Amino acid sequence: MKKLVISSGAGISAESGISTFRDAGGLWEKYPVMEVASHDGFLKNPALIHKFYNERRKQLVTCKPNFAHIGLHQLEERFDVRVITQNIDDLHERAGSKNVLHLHGELMKVRSLKHEDRVYTLTSDNLETSVDTRDEYGDPVRPHIVFFQEDVPNFTKATELAKEADIFVVIGTSLNVYPAASLLYYVKPGTPVYYIDPRPAPIPEGTAVHVLPMKATEGVQWLIDNLKE
Ligand code: OAD
Repeated sequence: MKKLVISSGAGISAESGISTFRDAGGLWEKYPVMEVASHDGFLKNPALIHKFYNERRKQLVTCKPNFAHIGLHQLEERFDVRVITQNIDDLHERAGSKNVLHLHGELMKVRSLKHEDRVYTLTSDNLETSVDTRDEYGDPVRPHIVFFQEDVPNFTKATELAKEADIFVVIGTSLNVYPAASLLYYVKPGTPVYYIDPRPAPIPEGTAVHVLPMKATEGVQWLIDNLKE
């Protein structure tokens, strides 16, 4: 089976009702990004960050995967599909995708502030945390999110997947945030690369990328209709 590697961003979840970050009306217009999503912001005002991610979780549990997530799962019948996502939502998993690598963390998880490897999954009836939340060892927790100014621990794994791709598809990202935005440059020369986004970011000249200026749901339908095994 050909390896189909997907790199998704906020745009794939837009049709599920989750705001993107940098579109008009996006999250970073409403919230100061360095206060709610940076390492310094967490040190300065952790209560605000807990509140911000509590709100994101409460919204997420009301949302459902859309056809873009579901169609990528359907493609597993014909391809070895690997999803690398910048998204912190769990909509790829809820659509059934078997191989999902989160670059920027996972909204429904928290981890111990003392032991980074102690990661806990929240449930829809217990999704709020605060500076007073303690884990089973009595240690405080933080959102399992990669904040700005922090390393991206899964990036090396993601570059390996990009190098192994037979087909590479970027969906719904403004390609603003590094290192995630650089993934498409790790593919082997000659690998077909597609970029699905209704308002695609400019791609440097000389890079062979097929731009599909469409919504994620339409773009995934295009992949289902046009990709050859
Ligand atoms: P952005 O908000 O920067 O970009 C969203 C992209 O989705 C834009 O290019 C839109 O044109 C596109 N888009 C909008 N609606 C769409 C639709 N229906 N179908 C397909 N595409 C659509 O989001 P990201 O590039 O994902 O990180 O942002 C990257 C990172 O910045 C996020 O992971 C987050 C943020 O700060 C952290 O918080 C660590």
